[in-house]
Amino acid sequence: MTEIVVRRGGLKDIDQIVKVHSSDLENDLWYAFPNGQRVETKEPENLSLYERWLNGGSWMSNELCTIYINSLLLGGHIPIVAEIDGMVVGELELFFGWESDHKLYAHIGVLQVHKDFQRQGIGTKLLQKAISTAKKRGASYLSVRPRDLLQPFYQEYGFSEWLKTVVFEAQAGPYLAKLRWEEDNTVFNKMKFWDFILGQEQSSAQIWQIFNRNFFALPEFTREPIHTGVITSDTQETVAIFFPHVYFGDMANVYAWSKTQAKDEHLWSILTLAYHFGYDRVRSLLDTKQFEKLSAKLPLVEIERQEIFRLDLKKRDEYEMADFV
Ligand SMILES: CC(C)(COP(=O)(O)OP(=O)(O)OC[C@H]1O[C@@H](n2cnc3c(N)ncnc32)[C@H](O)[C@@H]1OP(=O)(O)O)[C@@H](O)C(=O)NCCC(=O)NCCS
Repeated sequence: MTEIVVRRGGLKDIDQIVKVHSSDLENDLWYAFPNGQRVETKEPENLSLYERWLNGGSWMSNELCTIYINSLLLGGHIPIVAEIDGMVVGELELFFGWESDHKLYAHIGVLQVHKDFQRQGIGTKLLQKAISTAKKRGASYLSVRPRDLLQPFYQEYGFSEWLKTVVFEAQAGPYLAKLRWEEDNTVFNKMKFWDFILGQEQSSAQIWQIFNRNFFALPEFTREPIHTGVITSDTQETVAIFFPHVYFGDMANVYAWSKTQAKDEHLWSILTLAYHFGYDRVRSLLDTKQFEKLSAKLPLVEIERQEIFRLDLKKRDEYEMADFV
């Protein structure tokens, strides 16, 4: 059987990482976006960098993938690649950071195997390497947001459901009169251990890395500013990122952290700031229980539900020791 080599990835792998991700586009199609309309194209080489990004993110062109992987590595995160005969056939990205329980989390933000090599055990090898790498760095948990059909796969490795969230949209508006906003894109370091109250679609570390450190100086990305900073109201201090939605110019994706669980005041202040930043709508996520409580008081519209799983790495050690004994 052909040997699968799994190792840390780096800048030298960019070309092949792009090939792995581009191999598995939805319906096997590339799209162009003339005047904002999505149309199929047979000539992906003619797409602009931004159009390529719209087809599947930072892994769709060597240029943006280089910036992306470079900043990921500088942020202390780890790309892991699987190789067959010297060719990269799969990539996993492991993000490291603390959550509000004061525990270090490793988070699988990306897992992609080349379309022609799927179902040959490569994803499994990458996951095994992610587990051993996370343990080696001293992480307490390894988390992931699995696609529904992969939940049994992660469960087999001991992952179980950790968080249930609701993706929602809400109308922005001048709801609160008194708010203080301080723009500060270094604030993440100061808010270690705060609760990730809004937008937990991945780990805190991955969100911060992608939406605050991973900048592309393309006109489409620099037209609207990304606002990052601290909101102070009478009783709450909230760190927030307002990131322009990829397809809907009137909508901000919002991520927020605070010292307390999400309260209606947090939401009102976020919706007020989004309005002042020129947005009509906000998209974010709330823990399901919080959503149920807060949607009684606020105009939140449910879009979909998501789940994050985690593996208790310390517990796993105990099992292994027990097995060993
Ligand atoms: C998901 C993915 C990474 C798995 O990699 P892979 O190399 O094909 O996985 P493996 O061969 O190691 O398979 C491991 C197990 O995963 C599960 N699995 C993998 N692909 C699956 C699929 N399409 N449907 C259902 N289960 C699947 C199966 O339980 C499989 O075990 P089996 O082949 O013995 O049934 C790969 O299919 C992929 O890149 N998919 C597109 C991107 C994606 O969905 N990423 C996951 C983000 S959480």
